[in-house]
Amino acid sequence: MKTIDLKTPTMMGKIHVGADVIDARLPALVAGQKNFVVTDSNVFALYGAWFTRHFADAEIFVLSAGEENKNFGSLYAILEKMSAAGLHRNSRLFAVGGGVVGDIGGLAAALYMRGISCVQIPTTLLAQVDSSVGGKTAVDLGGVKNIVGAFYQPCEVLVDPTFLQTLPMREIKCGVGEMVKYAALNAEIFDILERNTDRLTDLAFLSDLIVACIQHKADVVQADEKESGERCSLNVGHTTGHAIELTSGLSHGESVLYGMLFETRIAVSAGICEKEYGSRLLALIEKAIAIEPNAAVDFSGIGESAEKARSDKKNSDDGKIKMAVAKCENEWTMFSLGFEEYRAALVQAAK
Ligand SMILES: NC(=O)c1ccc[n+]([C@@H]2O[C@H](COP(=O)([O-])OP(=O)(O)OC[C@H]3O[C@@H](n4cnc5c(N)ncnc54)[C@H](O)[C@@H]3O)[C@@H](O)[C@H]2O)c1
Repeated sequence: MKTIDLKTPTMMGKIHVGADVIDARLPALVAGQKNFVVTDSNVFALYGAWFTRHFADAEIFVLSAGEENKNFGSLYAILEKMSAAGLHRNSRLFAVGGGVVGDIGGLAAALYMRGISCVQIPTTLLAQVDSSVGGKTAVDLGGVKNIVGAFYQPCEVLVDPTFLQTLPMREIKCGVGEMVKYAALNAEIFDILERNTDRLTDLAFLSDLIVACIQHKADVVQADEKESGERCSLNVGHTTGHAIELTSGLSHGESVLYGMLFETRIAVSAGICEKEYGSRLLALIEKAIAIEPNAAVDFSGIGESAEKARSDKKNSDDGKIKMAVAKCENEWTMFSLGFEEYRAALVQAAK
């Protein structure tokens, strides 16, 4: 088991990674208080016996799987069930699932009695390398991603790569997408992925890289918990990615991959991203996209998707679209375009 500390002004958290983390940490975390579990219907169906073994006395809320359920109605239902279960200030919430469960479960923990202890147990590759770490919690509202939420750090994150064995290949691809995001920002991760593009679906290889990805994120979050500077780098590809997610029906991870593809092309054309570095990055993104090609993808209407980028949280009141883009090895920058300029560049980049 490898342990990464994450110290912020509000929390000294620990992230444990390894196939032994559940047995090593979960019994102690479950003991001594009332517990409440949030999971989703797919994870519960696959791991019923696991829940019975570890959470015999806990109340379990099973959310219907899918991003469309990361909303206020589900949040309200979770909070109602927490209240009915008689949870107290010292009770603990466990979020066991992918990023949807982690985001909504984390927000419920942040809100109930103004904050109860939260443990994240991520079960997708995307959640293991990214969403379970760093304390961003949220639900979607009115067609806008993650517009209502809180920064709320879990006390522990238990990352067990064994969960990945049941994950469909398309979900592995989504996690690889976030790993490529780290590659865009971190030369060591870039180098490892670039040298192993034939192993992007090899669970042993991916599991070995989880710690490096989490360490990168933990370092960034420790430096800038509330995203006023360095943490914006973790949004590489996400401005366009969120716009694609909201209009295409593609999942978050796949949308971010296309977002990175198009934003990197835009940044290279604008001379913001170094040409040679940009070619290497684009080649890596394309390898990840090819993991499980999606025949239904059609970007002929991308000009309309561009509208959704207007509501991105990184934008300010000047009407410009802001993107975090890689410049060269280990360097990134914020890059803004007026809306019409952005739309035209996006249409060109998606050709
Ligand atoms: N908080 C953050 O910092 C942050 C960062 C990145 C993404 N996100 C959010 O995360 C969400 C995407 O997360 P995701 O890709 O994990 O999606 P998800 O939670 O929808 O999970 C993807 C699918 O995998 C299934 N699944 C989960 N674990 C499984 C397992 N072990 N075996 C088989 N199936 C399993 C789920 O039921 C679901 O159908 C988005 O809502 C996104 O906004 C948050």
